[in-house]
Amino acid sequence: MTTYDAAIAGGGIIGLSVAYELAKTGRKVAVVDRGPLHGEAVSAAAGMLGAEAESHHGGAFFEMCKWSRGLYRSWAEELKDRSGVSIEYVPEGIIRAALDEADEAELLARAAWNSEAEWLSPEEIVRMEPEVASGELRGGYYFRHDHQVHPLRLATALRRACAALDVAFHEDRPVTSLLKEGNRVTGLQTSAGPIFAQQTIVAAGSWSSSLLSPHGIDLPVFPVKGQCYSVAPEKPLTRRTLFVQGCYLVPKMDGTIWVGATQEEAGYDKTPTVGAMAALHAKAVRLLPAMERARFVRTWAGLRPGTPDGLPWIGFVPGVDGLLVATGHYRNGILLAPATGRLVKELASGEPCSFPIDHCSPARSADGRGEIIRS
Ligand code: GLY
Repeated sequence: MTTYDAAIAGGGIIGLSVAYELAKTGRKVAVVDRGPLHGEAVSAAAGMLGAEAESHHGGAFFEMCKWSRGLYRSWAEELKDRSGVSIEYVPEGIIRAALDEADEAELLARAAWNSEAEWLSPEEIVRMEPEVASGELRGGYYFRHDHQVHPLRLATALRRACAALDVAFHEDRPVTSLLKEGNRVTGLQTSAGPIFAQQTIVAAGSWSSSLLSPHGIDLPVFPVKGQCYSVAPEKPLTRRTLFVQGCYLVPKMDGTIWVGATQEEAGYDKTPTVGAMAALHAKAVRLLPAMERARFVRTWAGLRPGTPDGLPWIGFVPGVDGLLVATGHYRNGILLAPATGRLVKELASGEPCSFPIDHCSPARSADGRGEIIRS
């Protein structure tokens, strides 16, 4: 039976990014998923690279988000070369607008730790995006480096790039447990038999804890449902992504606008609900009234992997040999994909990390802030 260099539990964006970076080193890699590849958190994503728009305080994680964002342009080109698929990297920024006094105050306070953000008056926002309603606008930040990609095209590009590097995919094959010999993890036990590997990486998003906790590994990850919808307006309504508290509108290359996303701790339920769509749409229309006349395209929901302090778990699991985790990326899986792939490759190879990741360590106490950060 084949013994892989690396077996990865989870074929989402993070699992595929890790597989891709490991396979580029010549390793023999297997990716195992309980369903089809990239069927979960990626489907909650709109593809914003919102390092600034989605951060609520400065520090190591904010710096890591900006670092990963900065890797994207060349990563997009590299993936295109290897897979033939464009991930539709759009180098337009995000306007994060405030519609009430409290939100304006929260945004303005960010100047203390984000010196790059540019404050725009309501008039300046409307000059940049003439379809935006000026009535309730109190101003907002322009995050010119927060670009966007197409999440499903990113998943396809990664999958094809991995396939070209001979990564083995095992889909619709639930991982039932970690294989262990003494203190060493030796691979993954699956519904269709064992998959042995020198190194095992758990990148199973919201399902990660169920693989880890039977072995006494306490790294909480829980599902946070995100519902989205998309529309096709008759003419383009915005060039840049627009973002107000609890709602963003992302204009895609095909002319559609993706609107997201709710944030619900509702277990593993992914049912889209009329109430959530109505609430999202009400926010979208306050900012962009012409959304009311746009043709409805579709609605969907996905499960983000949340952690108690809102930070991912990346690194070797202390006290267990041969086991790494790359999970719990919460709202930042797309943004942090290139960084996570590279960092896990470096850790697995015994190389120094190109960016400090102590704040993501599986050895940390995640009780810190007690509650996940809301956008
Ligand atoms: N990063 C956007 C979201 O999770 O809704």
